[in-house]
Formats: sequence, structure tokens, C-alpha cells
Amino acid sequence: MESLKASFGILFFTFTFSFSIFSLLIFVLRAIKPWSCGCEVCRSYLTRSWSPEFDNLSDWFTHLLRKSPTGTIHVHVLGNTITANPDNVEYMLKTRFDNFPKGKPFSAILGDLLGKGIFNVDGDSWKFQRKMASLELGSVSIRSHALEIVSSEIQNRLIPLLSSEAGKNGGVFDLQDVFRRFSFDTICQFSFGLDPGCLQLDLPISDLAVAFDLASKLLAERAMTASPWVWKVKRLLNLGSEKKLKAAIKAIHVLAEEVIQNRQKLGFSTQNDLLSRFMGTINDDRYLRDIVISFLLAGRDTVASALTTFFWLVAQHPEVEAAIREESDRVMGPTVQEQTANFKQMKEMHYLQAAMYESMRLYPPVQFDSKFCQEDDILPDGTYVTKGTRVTYHPYAMGRMERVWGNDCLEFKPERWLQDGVFRPVSPFKYPVFQAGIRVCLGKEIALVEMKSVAVSLIRQFDIRVVTPSQMPRFLPGLTATVRGGLPVTIQERRL
Ligand code: HEM
Repeated sequence: MESLKASFGILFFTFTFSFSIFSLLIFVLRAIKPWSCGCEVCRSYLTRSWSPEFDNLSDWFTHLLRKSPTGTIHVHVLGNTITANPDNVEYMLKTRFDNFPKGKPFSAILGDLLGKGIFNVDGDSWKFQRKMASLELGSVSIRSHALEIVSSEIQNRLIPLLSSEAGKNGGVFDLQDVFRRFSFDTICQFSFGLDPGCLQLDLPISDLAVAFDLASKLLAERAMTASPWVWKVKRLLNLGSEKKLKAAIKAIHVLAEEVIQNRQKLGFSTQNDLLSRFMGTINDDRYLRDIVISFLLAGRDTVASALTTFFWLVAQHPEVEAAIREESDRVMGPTVQEQTANFKQMKEMHYLQAAMYESMRLYPPVQFDSKFCQEDDILPDGTYVTKGTRVTYHPYAMGRMERVWGNDCLEFKPERWLQDGVFRPVSPFKYPVFQAGIRVCLGKEIALVEMKSVAVSLIRQFDIRVVTPSQMPRFLPGLTATVRGGLPVTIQERRL
């Protein structure tokens, strides 16, 4: 009798387990709908048949957007309308801003890491943080503090490091890695008042940076799955990449909480870092943690990415390098005694600003950015968008559209930004590299000062040569554009 009961129990358990797995499978398949669309674009996306012809997914999307008469396409299998049309961009980021929030699918993807941080929320919580953060980031004292951090990191770490690498026999090293370490050091000092000291190549990169890299990579993979159910089920069962992600996020949270507690012990009222500033208004530690993590994500990889592609382009355009040197000699003096530029000098270097903008036109650090349509809508180019559709504007493709930038759109020409030698910006909806409209990047000015400081200091002091200049950059999947394999360079100190 007992053995009959046991057999029945096993049979019942096996049946229930198999039925649950089967139901789950049906649920996931219905959500992914692999059979729902047989169009060429969807088939190509799912089978990756675009990859032999194009280096990057963004290059394939650019090709499709250039072919589309409206500059807009719809990828059915992703439920994603993608546009490179400036009128549509203005409509979604300004005119009908309320109808195109980040939306729940986005906050679900990043929510485990970012919680209620500014990057990941809409509505009142976003408005509150935006108001507070724009007051802080717009203040003269915070901007001067940011420049002090950047100048000190350049003079005391970046230049000595590159000088020690310069001229080493066969000395090839990865400039992208150096920029990632540099921007992590500066954004941590700016956000937390904490110096992780990553720019010492002999030291292992900090635990926080390692966990951050892993989390960004795995979160980007979440965003690329054809259906959110794939990662949601993996997260529920704590499997594979989701298990690793959980551990990385836990490590980031623990480290961030430690920083907050230390800051509270040491006192914050006289400090200039963002965390200390926010502590004056907010006393919820978890909320503080979320806000500061959003800033790390916003300000780290973006700056490193922009610098990497800038140096890649400049290395292929000696005339641009020469023009930057000539301008900086005129503004800062011909010797390299002055290693970094001050605010006034930077304002006077119009060519440098133009070269920076031009480089991000071709290689925007955030190659595309998505919103979710709240109510059915019609974009200015006539595209009908139903409620719940993901709508993506694509700065990478926009920089390569003849109808936006003219026949020479693929050429690197800083002069296109200058009129009588003076920098002239264009509509931010034509150039949404820092997003545009109501939710435009809050760190834009600080980022530009940081990047221009690095560019001018290194170009004045060193000859930097890319080892494989003709190789087009291939990007790793990620929230921000990171070059696969880094940027191997050789470096020589200039004799002046
Ligand atoms: C080249 C460097 C940078 C680029 C290209 C860039 C680009 C962007 C983009 C595209 C967004 C919109 C993202 C979205 O809503 O999904 C954004 C938002 C934001 N950025 Fe930047 N960013 C850069 C540097 C920085 C830096 C250094 C900081 C901080 C000091 C920063 C702070 C922010 C913040 C706080 C937001 C959120 C604004 C909001 O949601 O209201 N960014 N940035």
C-alpha cells in the first residue's frame, strides 16, 4: 500500500511539473510570437542574416532607415518603430512628451539596478529629481568642482601614465581602457566624493567598476531579447545570466550603501559632490543610492565612448589634429607648461568644440534611445503608432542620413559646425546625441568640458597613433557604445 502511495505521489509530481513547464513554454512562445511575422526585416533580425554585410546592428538599421522614404521603419518582431526623422524626434521628445514616457518595459529592464533613480522613472518622481539635479548641475560651484576633478586627474594621473607608456619598445596599449578608468575615477569623485583610483594600470580595477561593467552588459542583453518574458522567466528561476546579474547588482548596492554611510559619518554639509548635496534634502538612504547609481551610469561609459571614437577619428585626420594644436597654441600659448585649459580658454577654442560635436555626430555614445507610446498617435511623417509600441530615435543613423546632413554626411568635417570660425549649434532634434527637448541630458556641459580637457591636453603633449586605423569600429552590445577589442594605440611624447 505504502509503495503504491509513493508511486502515485511521484506520478502526480511528474505530471504537475511537466504540465507547468509545458504551460510556461506555451506562455513564452505566445509572448515571443516567433511565427507572427515572416517579413524580410524580421527574418533577417531573428536569423542575423544582416551580419555578413554590416559591422554593427546599428549599421543595418541605418541602411534600412536611409532606404525608407519617411526615415522611419517598424520591426514587427520587436514591436519597435525606429525613426531617424528630426520632425518625429521633436514630436516625441517635446511636442507630445507626455505621450512618450520611458514607460514600464524600460524601467522593468533597468529597475533592478537603478531602482527609482532619475534615469529610470517618469512622472512626479522624475520631476522632483530633475528639478533638484538641474539646480545642482547648473551651479557655478559644482561646475568648477567638476573641472578641478578633471584637471587634477589629467595632470596627476593621465599624463604621467601616458608619459610612462610613451616610446616603450613595441608599447601598444588600449586607450579605450584608459578612458574607461579615467571616466570612472572622475564620475565617482563627482558623484560620491570617492576616488576609486582606477587609473593606475598596475592596480586591479575596483570591485565597483567590475560589477558595474558586468551589470551594464547583462542589462543590455535583457533589452535585446525578442520578448521580456525570456529574461523574466530566467530571473524568476535565478538561471544563467540573470543569476550573474543579481550578484553584480547586489555588489553595487552594497558598495554604494557603504559609501553613503561613510559620507554620513564624515559629514556632508561642506562637501561639493552630488551625494552630499542631495543629502541636504533627502534622508532616505535607498533613494540616495538609486539617484547616485543613475549618475554613475549616465556619466561613465558615455564620456569614455566619446573620447575613444574621437581619438580614432583624429588619428585618421592629421589635418584635424594640426588645427586643434594650432588653435590651442594660440589660446593657451605654444608650450605645454599649461597642461590643462581653464573655462575661459575652452570657450575660445571653437574648432575643438566643432571637432567634438562632429565626432559624436558619427559616433554618438548612446546610439539609440527608446520611449513607449502611451496612447495611439500619429508621428509627423504619417507613421501610425499604437499604444504600447516602443518608439526609438536613432542618433547613430541620423548622423548618417544624407537628407539630414547632406551628401558629405559620412565625412568627418569639423568645419561644418563653424561659421566665420565661430561654433554654430544645430537644432537638437537633428542632433539628439544628448537627447533633446524636455528630458535633455543634464550632464551635457560637464561632459563637454571633461572631454575637451582630455582631448586638448593629450593632443598637445603626445602623438597618438592607432595601430589598425583602417579597421571600422565594431561595437559590443550595450547601453553605451563600447568598441569591441578596445582602441590599441602607440604613443610618443612630442618634442617642443
Ligand atoms: C558624452 C557624454 C554624454 C552623453 C552623450 C549623454 C547622453 C545622454 C542621453 C542620450 C540621455 C537620455 C537618456 C534617456 O533618457 O534614456 C542622457 C540623460 C542624462 N544624462 Fe547624459 N550624457 C553624457 C554625459 C553625462 C554626464 C557626464 C552626466 C552627469 C554628470 C550625465 C547625466 C545625465 C542625466 C542625469 C540624465 C537623465 C536626465 C533625465 O532623465 O531627466 N550625462 N544623457
